[in-house]
Amino acid sequence: MSEEREIGVRLATPDDARAIRRLLLSTYGDGYPFPERLDESTIARGIVEATTLYGVAETHARDMIGLAALEPRGSHGLFEYSRATVADGFRGTGLLASLGGLLIRQHAPRHGARFVTGYVVTSHVYAQRFGRSFGFATTGLLLGGLPSQWVPSGFSRERQPISELLMALRVARNEPVRDVALAGPDGDRALRALAALGVPARRGRGKPGELGAHFERNKAHGLVQLRFATGAPPRRLHPGFVEGLEAAGTAILWADVPIDHARAPFVVDRLRELGLGFAAYLPAAGVHGEDVLRFQRYLHDVPLDFDAIQVIDEARALKDDVIADAVGVVRA
Ligand SMILES: CC(C)(COP(=O)(O)OP(=O)(O)OC[C@H]1O[C@@H](n2cnc3c(N)ncnc32)[C@H](O)[C@@H]1OP(=O)(O)O)[C@@H](O)C(=O)NCCC(=O)NCCS
Repeated sequence: MSEEREIGVRLATPDDARAIRRLLLSTYGDGYPFPERLDESTIARGIVEATTLYGVAETHARDMIGLAALEPRGSHGLFEYSRATVADGFRGTGLLASLGGLLIRQHAPRHGARFVTGYVVTSHVYAQRFGRSFGFATTGLLLGGLPSQWVPSGFSRERQPISELLMALRVARNEPVRDVALAGPDGDRALRALAALGVPARRGRGKPGELGAHFERNKAHGLVQLRFATGAPPRRLHPGFVEGLEAAGTAILWADVPIDHARAPFVVDRLRELGLGFAAYLPAAGVHGEDVLRFQRYLHDVPLDFDAIQVIDEARALKDDVIADAVGVVRA
Protein backbone atom coordinates (compact mmCIF):
# COMPACT_ATOMS: atom_id res chain seq x y z
CA MET A 1 0.00 0.00 0.00
CA SER A 2 1.37 3.45 -0.87
CA GLU A 3 2.03 5.93 1.89
CA GLU A 4 -0.65 8.19 0.43
CA ARG A 5 -3.33 5.53 0.78
CA GLU A 6 -2.45 4.92 4.42
CA ILE A 7 -3.30 8.50 5.38
CA GLY A 8 -6.60 8.88 7.21
CA VAL A 9 -8.71 11.86 8.27
CA ARG A 10 -10.84 12.04 11.41
CA LEU A 11 -12.23 14.53 13.93
CA ALA A 12 -9.75 15.55 16.63
CA THR A 13 -10.14 14.62 20.30
CA PRO A 14 -8.78 16.70 23.22
CA ASP A 15 -5.72 14.39 23.25
CA ASP A 16 -4.74 15.86 19.86
CA ALA A 17 -4.27 19.40 21.22
CA ARG A 18 -0.48 19.10 21.53
CA ALA A 19 -0.03 17.71 18.02
CA ILE A 20 -2.31 20.42 16.58
CA ARG A 21 -0.17 23.09 18.23
CA ARG A 22 2.98 21.39 16.94
CA LEU A 23 1.73 21.22 13.36
CA LEU A 24 0.71 24.90 13.36
CA LEU A 25 4.07 25.89 14.83
CA SER A 26 6.08 23.78 12.40
CA THR A 27 4.18 25.35 9.48
CA TYR A 28 4.16 28.96 10.65
CA GLY A 29 6.98 29.30 13.15
CA ASP A 30 6.64 32.42 15.24
CA GLY A 31 4.86 34.43 12.57
CA TYR A 32 1.38 33.03 13.15
CA PRO A 33 -0.93 36.04 13.58
CA PHE A 34 -3.44 34.20 15.81
CA PRO A 35 -1.42 33.27 18.94
CA GLU A 36 -4.58 32.24 20.82
CA ARG A 37 -5.01 29.38 18.34
CA LEU A 38 -1.66 27.95 19.47
CA ASP A 39 -2.61 27.61 23.11
CA GLU A 40 -2.92 23.93 23.98
CA SER A 41 -5.57 24.29 26.68
CA THR A 42 -7.66 26.60 24.45
CA ILE A 43 -7.47 24.02 21.66
CA ALA A 44 -8.51 21.20 24.03
CA ARG A 45 -11.35 23.26 25.48
CA GLY A 46 -12.63 24.11 21.99
CA ILE A 47 -12.78 20.39 21.22
CA VAL A 48 -14.45 19.40 24.51
CA GLU A 49 -17.05 22.16 24.26
CA ALA A 50 -17.45 21.57 20.51
CA THR A 51 -16.99 25.29 19.83
CA THR A 52 -14.29 24.41 17.30
CA LEU A 53 -14.33 21.27 15.18
CA TYR A 54 -10.87 20.17 14.10
CA GLY A 55 -10.27 17.68 11.33
CA VAL A 56 -6.86 16.04 11.34
CA ALA A 57 -4.98 13.94 8.81
CA GLU A 58 -2.40 11.45 9.99
CA THR A 59 -0.12 8.77 8.65
CA HIS A 60 -0.47 5.12 9.67
CA ALA A 61 2.26 5.87 12.26
CA ARG A 62 -0.18 8.48 13.68
CA ASP A 63 1.96 11.50 12.77
CA MET A 64 -0.32 14.48 12.25
CA ILE A 65 0.33 15.94 8.81
CA GLY A 66 -2.84 17.90 8.10
CA LEU A 67 -5.32 20.10 9.91
CA ALA A 68 -8.39 22.24 9.30
CA ALA A 69 -11.01 23.72 11.60
CA LEU A 70 -14.64 24.76 11.45
CA GLU A 71 -16.02 27.37 13.83
CA PRO A 72 -19.38 29.12 14.18
CA ARG A 73 -19.35 32.87 13.66
CA GLY A 74 -22.30 34.17 15.61
CA SER A 75 -25.44 32.12 16.11
CA HIS A 76 -27.18 32.35 12.73
CA GLY A 77 -25.65 29.42 10.86
CA LEU A 78 -22.48 31.07 9.58
CA PHE A 79 -19.31 28.99 10.02
CA GLU A 80 -15.71 29.71 9.10
CA TYR A 81 -13.32 27.13 7.71
CA SER A 82 -9.83 28.01 8.87
CA ARG A 83 -6.37 26.87 9.98
CA ALA A 84 -5.94 24.84 6.76
CA THR A 85 -2.47 23.39 7.11
CA VAL A 86 -0.81 20.47 5.38
CA ALA A 87 2.78 19.58 6.20
CA ASP A 88 5.27 20.49 3.50
CA GLY A 89 5.97 17.26 1.60
CA PHE A 90 2.33 16.08 1.74
CA ARG A 91 0.80 19.01 -0.17
CA GLY A 92 -0.99 18.66 -3.48
CA THR A 93 -2.20 15.14 -2.72
CA GLY A 94 -5.80 16.00 -1.87
CA LEU A 95 -5.48 16.16 1.92
CA LEU A 96 -7.17 19.52 2.26
CA ALA A 97 -9.96 18.22 0.04
CA SER A 98 -10.38 15.17 2.34
CA LEU A 99 -10.48 17.39 5.42
CA GLY A 100 -13.05 19.59 3.68
CA GLY A 101 -15.18 16.52 2.96
CA LEU A 102 -15.11 15.53 6.62
CA LEU A 103 -15.75 18.96 8.16
CA ILE A 104 -17.85 20.76 5.58
CA ARG A 105 -19.85 18.03 3.85
CA GLN A 106 -20.31 15.63 6.79
CA HIS A 107 -20.22 17.72 9.95
CA ALA A 108 -21.23 21.31 9.08
CA PRO A 109 -24.90 20.41 8.34
CA ARG A 110 -25.16 18.46 11.61
CA HIS A 111 -24.08 21.58 13.49
CA GLY A 112 -26.68 23.80 11.88
CA ALA A 113 -24.44 25.44 9.27
CA ARG A 114 -26.18 27.41 6.56
CA PHE A 115 -23.03 28.91 5.07
CA VAL A 116 -19.31 28.24 5.37
CA THR A 117 -16.85 31.02 4.59
CA GLY A 118 -13.09 31.02 4.23
CA TYR A 119 -10.69 33.96 4.42
CA VAL A 120 -8.14 32.62 1.97
CA VAL A 121 -4.62 34.00 1.61
CA THR A 122 -3.58 35.59 -1.68
CA SER A 123 0.13 34.88 -1.18
CA HIS A 124 -0.51 31.62 -3.10
CA VAL A 125 -3.56 30.15 -4.81
CA TYR A 126 -3.63 26.52 -3.56
CA ALA A 127 -6.18 27.06 -0.84
CA GLN A 128 -8.28 29.07 -3.34
CA ARG A 129 -8.13 26.13 -5.75
CA PHE A 130 -9.42 23.86 -3.04
CA GLY A 131 -12.32 26.29 -2.49
CA ARG A 132 -13.12 26.45 -6.19
CA SER A 133 -13.09 22.64 -6.59
CA PHE A 134 -15.27 22.31 -3.52
CA GLY A 135 -17.94 24.64 -4.90
CA PHE A 136 -17.19 27.83 -2.94
CA ALA A 137 -18.06 31.14 -4.61
CA THR A 138 -15.65 34.07 -4.43
CA THR A 139 -17.50 36.96 -2.82
CA GLY A 140 -14.87 39.49 -1.81
CA LEU A 141 -11.30 40.63 -1.38
CA LEU A 142 -10.12 42.00 1.95
CA LEU A 143 -7.10 44.20 1.41
CA GLY A 144 -3.98 43.79 3.53
CA GLY A 145 -5.50 42.42 6.73
CA LEU A 146 -2.79 39.91 7.61
CA PRO A 147 0.79 40.72 8.56
CA SER A 148 3.48 40.12 5.92
CA GLN A 149 5.57 38.06 8.32
CA TRP A 150 2.94 35.32 8.16
CA VAL A 151 4.91 32.92 6.01
CA PRO A 152 4.04 29.22 5.94
CA SER A 153 6.91 26.78 5.48
CA GLY A 154 7.54 26.17 1.79
CA PHE A 155 6.58 29.72 0.73
CA SER A 156 8.65 32.89 0.46
CA ARG A 157 8.08 35.99 2.55
CA GLU A 158 5.67 38.64 1.32
CA ARG A 159 6.74 42.26 1.00
CA GLN A 160 3.34 43.65 1.97
CA PRO A 161 0.44 42.84 4.27
CA ILE A 162 -1.42 39.81 2.94
CA SER A 163 -4.87 40.24 1.41
CA GLU A 164 -7.56 37.57 1.69
CA LEU A 165 -10.02 36.28 -0.86
CA LEU A 166 -13.40 35.78 0.77
CA MET A 167 -14.96 32.51 -0.34
CA ALA A 168 -18.43 31.28 0.66
CA LEU A 169 -20.41 28.09 0.26
CA ARG A 170 -24.11 27.53 0.87
CA VAL A 171 -24.64 24.41 2.99
CA ALA A 172 -28.36 24.75 3.77
CA ARG A 173 -30.57 23.18 1.12
CA ASN A 174 -33.02 26.10 1.05
CA GLU A 175 -32.56 29.75 1.96
CA PRO A 176 -35.26 32.43 2.24
CA VAL A 177 -35.52 35.04 -0.53
CA ARG A 178 -33.33 38.08 0.14
CA ASP A 179 -34.60 41.65 -0.24
CA VAL A 180 -31.78 43.76 -1.60
CA ALA A 181 -32.37 47.36 -0.58
CA LEU A 182 -29.08 48.64 -2.04
CA ALA A 183 -29.27 50.22 -5.47
CA GLY A 184 -26.68 50.82 -8.19
CA PRO A 185 -23.38 48.91 -8.37
CA ASP A 186 -23.58 47.81 -4.72
CA GLY A 187 -27.02 46.28 -5.31
CA ASP A 188 -25.59 44.55 -8.39
CA ARG A 189 -22.70 43.18 -6.30
CA ALA A 190 -25.15 41.80 -3.75
CA LEU A 191 -27.30 40.19 -6.45
CA ARG A 192 -24.22 38.68 -8.14
CA ALA A 193 -23.01 37.15 -4.88
CA LEU A 194 -26.46 35.77 -4.09
CA ALA A 195 -26.72 34.23 -7.57
CA ALA A 196 -23.28 32.63 -7.11
CA LEU A 197 -24.44 31.23 -3.76
CA GLY A 198 -27.69 29.95 -5.28
CA VAL A 199 -29.84 32.08 -2.96
CA PRO A 200 -33.07 33.59 -4.35
CA ALA A 201 -33.17 37.41 -4.28
CA ARG A 202 -35.19 40.40 -5.43
CA ARG A 203 -34.80 44.13 -5.18
CA GLY A 204 -36.87 45.57 -2.35
CA ARG A 205 -37.28 48.66 -0.20
CA GLY A 206 -35.88 47.00 2.89
CA LYS A 207 -36.82 47.06 6.57
CA PRO A 208 -37.64 50.43 8.13
CA GLY A 209 -36.02 51.92 11.25
CA GLU A 210 -32.68 53.30 12.32
CA LEU A 211 -29.29 51.68 11.64
CA GLY A 212 -26.74 52.17 14.42
CA ALA A 213 -23.35 50.49 14.57
CA HIS A 214 -21.37 48.41 17.03
CA PHE A 215 -17.69 49.35 17.17
CA GLU A 216 -15.25 46.43 17.48
CA ARG A 217 -11.49 46.71 17.63
CA ASN A 218 -8.81 44.04 17.23
CA LYS A 219 -5.73 45.84 18.48
CA ALA A 220 -3.25 43.10 17.54
CA HIS A 221 -4.35 43.27 13.89
CA GLY A 222 -4.90 47.04 13.81
CA LEU A 223 -8.47 46.32 12.74
CA VAL A 224 -11.59 48.35 13.47
CA GLN A 225 -14.96 46.96 12.42
CA LEU A 226 -18.26 48.83 12.37
CA ARG A 227 -21.23 46.45 12.38
CA PHE A 228 -24.36 48.31 11.36
CA ALA A 229 -27.59 46.89 12.76
CA THR A 230 -30.98 47.85 14.12
CA GLY A 231 -30.79 48.44 17.85
CA ALA A 232 -27.05 49.24 17.75
CA PRO A 233 -25.78 52.55 19.23
CA PRO A 234 -26.37 55.54 16.93
CA ARG A 235 -23.19 56.48 15.10
CA ARG A 236 -22.53 59.77 13.41
CA LEU A 237 -19.84 59.34 10.78
CA HIS A 238 -18.27 62.78 11.05
CA PRO A 239 -15.62 63.82 8.51
CA GLY A 240 -12.64 63.38 10.88
CA PHE A 241 -13.69 59.86 11.90
CA VAL A 242 -11.16 57.99 9.73
CA GLU A 243 -8.28 60.33 10.53
CA GLY A 244 -8.97 59.81 14.24
CA LEU A 245 -8.79 56.04 13.82
CA GLU A 246 -5.62 56.34 11.77
CA ALA A 247 -3.97 58.49 14.44
CA ALA A 248 -4.86 55.73 16.95
CA GLY A 249 -2.95 53.17 14.87
CA THR A 250 -5.78 51.61 12.85
CA ALA A 251 -4.49 49.83 9.73
CA ILE A 252 -7.78 48.46 8.40
CA LEU A 253 -11.32 49.76 8.71
CA TRP A 254 -14.27 47.51 7.84
CA ALA A 255 -17.92 48.48 7.86
CA ASP A 256 -20.62 45.82 7.48
CA VAL A 257 -23.99 47.02 6.23
CA PRO A 258 -27.13 44.79 6.11
CA ILE A 259 -28.34 44.56 2.52
CA ASP A 260 -32.01 44.34 3.48
CA HIS A 261 -32.39 47.58 5.40
CA ALA A 262 -34.06 50.71 4.03
CA ARG A 263 -31.31 52.92 5.55
CA ALA A 264 -28.50 50.87 3.97
CA PRO A 265 -28.14 53.13 0.87
CA PHE A 266 -27.82 56.19 3.13
CA VAL A 267 -25.15 54.52 5.30
CA VAL A 268 -23.21 53.39 2.24
CA ASP A 269 -23.20 56.97 0.85
CA ARG A 270 -21.65 58.20 4.15
CA LEU A 271 -19.06 55.41 4.08
CA ARG A 272 -18.04 56.30 0.54
CA GLU A 273 -17.64 59.94 1.59
CA LEU A 274 -15.17 58.64 4.20
CA GLY A 275 -13.20 56.87 1.48
CA LEU A 276 -14.39 53.30 2.00
CA GLY A 277 -14.85 50.99 -0.98
CA PHE A 278 -16.52 47.64 -1.61
CA ALA A 279 -14.78 44.68 0.04
CA ALA A 280 -17.03 41.63 0.22
CA TYR A 281 -20.44 40.03 0.45
CA LEU A 282 -20.96 37.96 3.61
CA PRO A 283 -24.07 35.82 4.05
CA ALA A 284 -25.61 35.62 7.55
CA ALA A 285 -22.76 37.67 9.05
CA GLY A 286 -24.77 40.59 10.41
CA VAL A 287 -25.51 41.17 14.09
CA HIS A 288 -29.01 39.68 13.62
CA GLY A 289 -27.91 37.17 10.99
CA GLU A 290 -28.56 39.48 8.02
CA ASP A 291 -26.44 39.25 4.90
CA VAL A 292 -24.03 42.19 4.82
CA LEU A 293 -21.97 44.05 2.29
CA ARG A 294 -18.57 44.80 3.77
CA PHE A 295 -16.78 48.05 2.93
CA GLN A 296 -13.11 48.67 3.64
CA ARG A 297 -10.48 51.31 3.88
CA TYR A 298 -6.84 50.28 3.92
CA LEU A 299 -4.94 52.71 6.15
CA HIS A 300 -1.67 50.82 6.58
CA ASP A 301 1.46 52.81 5.79
CA VAL A 302 2.81 50.04 3.51
CA PRO A 303 1.47 50.67 -0.02
CA LEU A 304 -0.13 47.67 -1.71
CA ASP A 305 1.23 46.26 -4.96
CA PHE A 306 -1.95 44.91 -6.53
CA ASP A 307 -0.05 42.65 -8.94
CA ALA A 308 1.35 40.73 -5.96
CA ILE A 309 -2.17 39.79 -4.83
CA GLN A 310 -2.63 36.31 -6.34
CA VAL A 311 -6.11 35.06 -7.15
CA ILE A 312 -7.53 32.20 -9.23
CA ASP A 313 -8.84 33.15 -12.69
CA GLU A 314 -12.46 33.04 -11.51
CA ALA A 315 -11.74 35.84 -9.04
CA ARG A 316 -9.99 38.22 -11.48
CA ALA A 317 -13.08 40.32 -12.22
CA LEU A 318 -13.87 40.55 -8.52
CA LYS A 319 -10.30 41.64 -7.73
CA ASP A 320 -10.46 44.31 -10.45
CA ASP A 321 -13.78 45.53 -9.08
CA VAL A 322 -12.49 45.79 -5.50
CA ILE A 323 -9.33 47.56 -6.59
CA ALA A 324 -11.17 49.99 -8.87
CA ASP A 325 -13.45 50.82 -5.95
CA ALA A 326 -10.43 51.39 -3.73
CA VAL A 327 -8.75 53.89 -6.07
CA GLY A 328 -7.78 56.95 -4.13
CA VAL A 329 -8.07 54.91 -0.95
CA VAL A 330 -5.00 52.72 -1.20
CA ARG A 331 -1.86 54.77 -1.26
CA ALA A 332 0.32 53.56 -4.10
C1 LIG B 1 -3.17 25.37 1.35
C2 LIG B 1 -2.83 23.93 1.73
C3 LIG B 1 -3.49 23.62 3.06
C4 LIG B 1 -3.40 23.02 0.65
O1 LIG B 1 -3.33 21.66 1.11
P1 LIG B 1 -3.19 20.43 0.10
O2 LIG B 1 -3.42 19.19 0.86
O3 LIG B 1 -1.98 20.62 -0.68
O4 LIG B 1 -4.48 20.68 -0.79
P2 LIG B 1 -5.05 19.73 -1.88
O5 LIG B 1 -4.07 18.65 -2.25
O6 LIG B 1 -6.43 19.31 -1.43
O7 LIG B 1 -5.12 20.70 -3.09
C5 LIG B 1 -5.93 21.86 -3.15
C6 LIG B 1 -5.78 22.45 -4.55
O8 LIG B 1 -4.50 23.09 -4.68
C7 LIG B 1 -3.74 22.44 -5.71
N1 LIG B 1 -2.36 22.33 -5.21
C8 LIG B 1 -1.97 22.13 -3.94
N2 LIG B 1 -0.63 22.11 -3.87
C9 LIG B 1 -0.17 22.31 -5.12
C10 LIG B 1 1.12 22.40 -5.69
N3 LIG B 1 2.21 22.30 -4.94
N4 LIG B 1 1.22 22.64 -7.01
C11 LIG B 1 0.12 22.75 -7.77
N5 LIG B 1 -1.14 22.66 -7.29
C12 LIG B 1 -1.28 22.43 -5.99
C13 LIG B 1 -4.39 21.12 -5.92
O9 LIG B 1 -4.17 20.64 -7.23
C14 LIG B 1 -5.84 21.41 -5.64
O10 LIG B 1 -6.44 22.06 -6.75
P3 LIG B 1 -7.56 21.32 -7.61
O11 LIG B 1 -8.66 20.96 -6.63
O12 LIG B 1 -7.98 22.36 -8.60
O13 LIG B 1 -6.87 20.12 -8.19
C15 LIG B 1 -1.31 23.71 1.80
O14 LIG B 1 -0.71 24.20 0.63
C16 LIG B 1 -0.66 24.41 2.98
O15 LIG B 1 -0.60 23.86 4.09
N6 LIG B 1 -0.15 25.65 2.79
C17 LIG B 1 0.44 26.40 3.87
C18 LIG B 1 -0.58 26.93 4.81
C19 LIG B 1 -1.57 27.84 4.14
O16 LIG B 1 -1.21 28.68 3.34
N7 LIG B 1 -2.86 27.64 4.47
C20 LIG B 1 -3.94 28.35 3.86
C21 LIG B 1 -4.28 29.58 4.63
S1 LIG B 1 -5.71 30.36 3.92
